[in-house]
Amino acid sequence: MPAELLFSGVKPTSTPHLGNYIGALKQWVELQHRYRSIFCIVDLHAITVPQDPKQMLERTLEIAATYLAIGLDPKRNIIFIQSEVHEHAELGWILGTLVKMSELERMTQYKDKAKAKGENVGAGLFNYPSLMAADILLYDTTAVPVGEDQMQHVELTRTIARRFNTTFGETFVVPQSLVQKVGARIMSLQDPTKKMSKSDESALATIMLNDAPDVIRKKISRAVTDSGTGISYDAIEHPAISNLLTIFHHATGKPIKEIEDEFAGKGYAEFKQALAEAVVEMLTPIQNKLNEFKQDPGELMKVLDEGRDKAQEIAAAKLKIVKERVGLGRV
Ligand code: TYM
Repeated sequence: MPAELLFSGVKPTSTPHLGNYIGALKQWVELQHRYRSIFCIVDLHAITVPQDPKQMLERTLEIAATYLAIGLDPKRNIIFIQSEVHEHAELGWILGTLVKMSELERMTQYKDKAKAKGENVGAGLFNYPSLMAADILLYDTTAVPVGEDQMQHVELTRTIARRFNTTFGETFVVPQSLVQKVGARIMSLQDPTKKMSKSDESALATIMLNDAPDVIRKKISRAVTDSGTGISYDAIEHPAISNLLTIFHHATGKPIKEIEDEFAGKGYAEFKQALAEAVVEMLTPIQNKLNEFKQDPGELMKVLDEGRDKAQEIAAAKLKIVKERVGLGRV
C-alpha cells in the first residue's frame, strides 16, 4: 500500500452537479489507484446552512450512492458519513481554539455566504474551516483533491496543523491540495464569471448529475456564449466558450486543441449539440448505476457500516494522541 493518504468529501446540500464531478469526484476515481483513500459525506458541514431534516439523510445517502456510481471501489477505499464518526466534531472543537478570528474572516466562502444571508448566518458557517481541518488532519492525510474554491480552506488547514505541531509537538501531517489542471473551476452556464453552484437562482446555470438527457440538452443549448464567434479557448477573452470547451474535454477525454480543430469554422449551435450529447453519454452510466443503488440500498448500507468502523478506528487513535498532547481528560 502506498504511504500517501488521500481524503476528500462533498456536502449533502443537494444532488452533486457537474462542477463537483469535474472539479473533484472525477479525479478521485483516477486517484484511488494511487493512494489509500478516504471519501466522506460531510453532513456536519451541510447543516452550517439550514437544511430540511427530512431531506438530510436522503441527500446524504444519495451522495454516498453517487460515490459508488462514479466508480469508487469500496473494497480499496473507506467511504463513510462524517456525523457517524464523532471524533470529527471533537477535533473540530479543539482546532477551533487555535484558529484565529481574523483567519476565518478572510475565508471567501464564508464572506460570500454571509453576504448573501446578511446578519442571519449561523456561527457554524464561520467556524466551518476548523471542522474541515479536523476531517483532513484526523487521518494523516497527505493529499486533498478539491476544486479551486476549496483551496483556501486546505491552506488554512495547513496553517492550523503547523500551529498545533509548534504548540504541542509534532502531531499532524501537513497536507496538500490536489487540483485539476483544467476544470478546477467549472463556471455557471448562465454567467461565466460565477462558479457553477448548487444554490444558483437560475435552474439553467447548473447541470445536476441526475438531470435527464433532455434537461441536459436544454441547459446546454441555452448556455450563454461570448460575443463574437469562433470556438477557441481563452478564459479571459471568451470565458463562456472556454468553460464549455473545458466541459467537452472532460466529457470526451479529447485535448482542448483537438476539439477546437474539430469545430473550426462551425457554429455555436453545432458545437453545443455535440457537447450536450457528450455530457449525456458521460452521465448516463452514472445515472443508471445510481438508480440500481437506490433500488437496492443493502450494499450501500454495508459499505457505510464498514467505512464508519474503519474510519473510527483511525480517528479514535489520532484523537487520543491529540487529547494527551493538549492535556484533556485522564490518560
Ligand atoms: P462542496 O460540497 O461544496 O463541493 C464538493 C467538491 O466539488 C468542488 N466544486 C467545484 N469544482 C469545480 N467547479 C465548481 N464549480 C465546483 N463547485 C464545487 C469543491 O471544490 C469540492 O472539492 N468544504 C467542502 C467539503 C469538505 C471537504 C472536507 C473537502 C468538508 N471537509 C475535507 C475535502 C476535505 C465543500 O463544501 O465541498
